[in-house]
Amino acid sequence: MNPLNHGSGARRRPVLLTGASGVVGTALRSVLAPWEYVALVHRRPLPGSATVTGDIRAERLGLDRSAYAELVSRIGGIVHAAADTRLNGAAAQLDATNVAGTRTLLRLATDANVPLYYVSTAFVHALTRPENAGRVLPYAESKAAAEESIRVWGGDHVVLRPSIVVGDSGTGVISEFQGLHRICGAILSDLFPAFPSDESGLVDFVPQDLVARVIAAAVRGELPPGTCEAWITAGHRAMPLEQLIAELVALAAEAGRPIAAPRIVSADLYERLVKPVFLGALPEELRRKVTALFEHVAPYIAVRSPFPESPAVITAAGGADADPGEVLRRTMRHWMSTTGHLGGTARLTTQGATS
Ligand SMILES: NC(=O)c1ccc[n+]([C@@H]2O[C@H](COP(=O)([O-])OP(=O)(O)OC[C@H]3O[C@@H](n4cnc5c(N)ncnc54)[C@H](OP(=O)(O)O)[C@@H]3O)[C@@H](O)[C@H]2O)c1
Repeated sequence: MNPLNHGSGARRRPVLLTGASGVVGTALRSVLAPWEYVALVHRRPLPGSATVTGDIRAERLGLDRSAYAELVSRIGGIVHAAADTRLNGAAAQLDATNVAGTRTLLRLATDANVPLYYVSTAFVHALTRPENAGRVLPYAESKAAAEESIRVWGGDHVVLRPSIVVGDSGTGVISEFQGLHRICGAILSDLFPAFPSDESGLVDFVPQDLVARVIAAAVRGELPPGTCEAWITAGHRAMPLEQLIAELVALAAEAGRPIAAPRIVSADLYERLVKPVFLGALPEELRRKVTALFEHVAPYIAVRSPFPESPAVITAAGGADADPGEVLRRTMRHWMSTTGHLGGTARLTTQGATS
């Protein structure tokens, strides 16, 4: 038996799903049957699901001994998607949730003798690239350290590494807007005159339904035998940064709010020109927001080398047919209609988001 088919039979025992209220957790809950998971609730309540309330930073998730023992006997696996996902977070806080928190789940996986499905990030790959030598990327570093803890632990596991998660491939819908939305939103709002990156930068994003399908396939033991890591990436189909900018310029024109294409500038030009001249002229509040996007989010948007791919895993999960350009357009039309960016032309967006 594949050891990862733990508890298979008439009906598997549910997995504990951490991060159930987050972007990935919400997408995953929409493809899992209610009996397939128990959601770990932290701050945000989740009405309608079987839940356990806890904090991954605390011993035994903060549960008393009997509640912990009950959880140990109840679960057939753990999908660990909870994380501190702040790209500008302080290393100590990121490590407390992402590294120490993962160890709490490893302890639970050992106690329950069940496999762990860990949602990592494809950006652990960027850390290994020479072009990023000397760069400080505390979020990616905390995820890589969590992966290392899992390797040292050595129990049954699958490490799943999505790139940037965007909206549903058919509708663009996502439960919360994150980094790429904010950067693209700033470009659509004409707040981003330049993009600090490499001319040959690639933007690797994947729709949330693909990520959810791959994780669900892992939980159901449907991945190719022996899979213990999987890249959920666009890989060689990642979108060149120049194309992303061109897509946004076209979307802005479609929305009736045309913009000039931001220039791709080197880190040096950003420091010498964009920061003092452009950022210096912005009001304080806006300057803080745009600086955070430039300095903390932008490095996670465009990468120089393509991410690795796991084609056999993607095929096992039903394939990834969606065209990246269409996925981006649907994602950003959903952003435009939700944020009211379109104002009087919202009708256009609604049509686009649902087509
Ligand atoms: N979204 C992406 O683009 C992306 C890309 C690649 C990899 N990932 C990885 O995918 C996973 C999910 O990301 P996401 O975007 O869905 O994250 P998210 O939307 O920021 O949600 C984070 C989740 O973690 C929970 N959480 C945070 N601290 C916790 C704690 N101390 N104890 C228990 N739960 C806690 C949150 O619950 P509360 O809100 O209740 O605190 C929330 O459910 C993460 O591991 C992330 O690194 C995400």
